[in-house]
Amino acid sequence: MALEFLYSQPVKIRFGCGSRGELSTILASLGVQRCLVVCDRFLRPTAEAMQKDTPRIAAIFSDVEENPQLKGVTASVRLIREHNIGAVVGIGGGSTMDTAKFAAAIAGESDDPLPYFKGERPFSAARLPMIAMPTTAGTGSEVTQVSVMSNGKEKKTINNPVFMPTYAIVDPELTLTVPPRTTMNTGLDAMAHALEGYWSKHHQPVSDLCAIEAVRLVLENLETAYRDGANLAAREHMSLAALLGGLSFALPKTAGSHACSYPLSEDYHLPHGEACAFTLDSFVKINTDERLETLCRRVGLSGTDELADRIRALKALGGLRVTLSDLGEVDLDKLAHDAAIHPLMQNNPVAMDEAALKRMFAALQ
Ligand SMILES: NC(=O)c1ccc[n+]([C@@H]2O[C@H](COP(=O)([O-])OP(=O)(O)OC[C@H]3O[C@@H](n4cnc5c(N)ncnc54)[C@H](O)[C@@H]3O)[C@@H](O)[C@H]2O)c1
Ligand SMILES: [Zn+2]
Repeated sequence: MALEFLYSQPVKIRFGCGSRGELSTILASLGVQRCLVVCDRFLRPTAEAMQKDTPRIAAIFSDVEENPQLKGVTASVRLIREHNIGAVVGIGGGSTMDTAKFAAAIAGESDDPLPYFKGERPFSAARLPMIAMPTTAGTGSEVTQVSVMSNGKEKKTINNPVFMPTYAIVDPELTLTVPPRTTMNTGLDAMAHALEGYWSKHHQPVSDLCAIEAVRLVLENLETAYRDGANLAAREHMSLAALLGGLSFALPKTAGSHACSYPLSEDYHLPHGEACAFTLDSFVKINTDERLETLCRRVGLSGTDELADRIRALKALGGLRVTLSDLGEVDLDKLAHDAAIHPLMQNNPVAMDEAALKRMFAALQ
């Protein structure tokens, strides 16, 4: 088969411990006098400390919640208008970065995100510069054109170039305070991004290289980061794994495990990373082929059985939910149906219809 691809990655990436201190210089390089910081309550003190060194931070919105709601976008846009803001800085996990992306995308023309969320109004290409500063090592949102937002119970992944950050400042020191359980959930999200980008029907060589390295880094560092959150080397390598995980799926997109994560989050309230990890080892088995065996050998594993075992061991270490009974009362038909109709299921290299998914879930007893 002829080798052909188009690779592009438009985000400037500054990686390194202490790089958050460069925010002021980066804002100046973008010609921005006044920025809004979007974060959650936990990160407000961090944002306030940064504001002391960065007078260009004109306002802080710190009410982002997990599974972020559109109201956080509305409130951010109001602050953008009130303070004549020229750029939005998202300091936090995926929930925060996705809220900041959405606010930066619509602020120039509206403070109502709902018509955009519903697909009734197109995003305009004019948007404010957006700087992503991840504080978890997981989503890779700092390098993707994805924003995942919720309107009530409805959670939607919106893929649009308008969400591509202008700059990513990845400072691993910001992740030192992430509690163990979130470290495990988010680390396995990074692993899922890498594996799914790699086995996606739209995989391509540059993304593949990012994926292989991301898987290697997670296997070598996640357990240490989980057991010893203060281990800066492990945190540094996990931040790199998450960044490379983001680059792995940014173009090929994710596949089966992410498709299954939506009903698992919506109906059984699993955090995003835990929801993706729930079926990740099952999909390793289902999607096993020569390419996946090659990835395993390149990261020092004997093969895909060992990869599935390592994922299962990490889930057990983190106390993540792994069986259907861990989820409580399960409507297996609805779970399989909702996973089957999710558009990302189309990217899975092995076709998985409702019946096949029902068998896969039923085996998780
Ligand atoms: N845009 C994308 O490309 C993309 C990719 C994957 C997932 N997502 C979305 O991102 C969201 C999940 O993001 P997440 O996993 O980063 O979790 P999150 O942003 O929801 O944060 C999880 C928890 O960790 C806390 N936290 C964050 N940083 C911390 C720190 N440094 N110290 C202590 N606590 C900290 C938060 O306060 C929160 O309580 C989901 O909505 C998911 O769908 C987006
Ligand atoms: Zn994810």
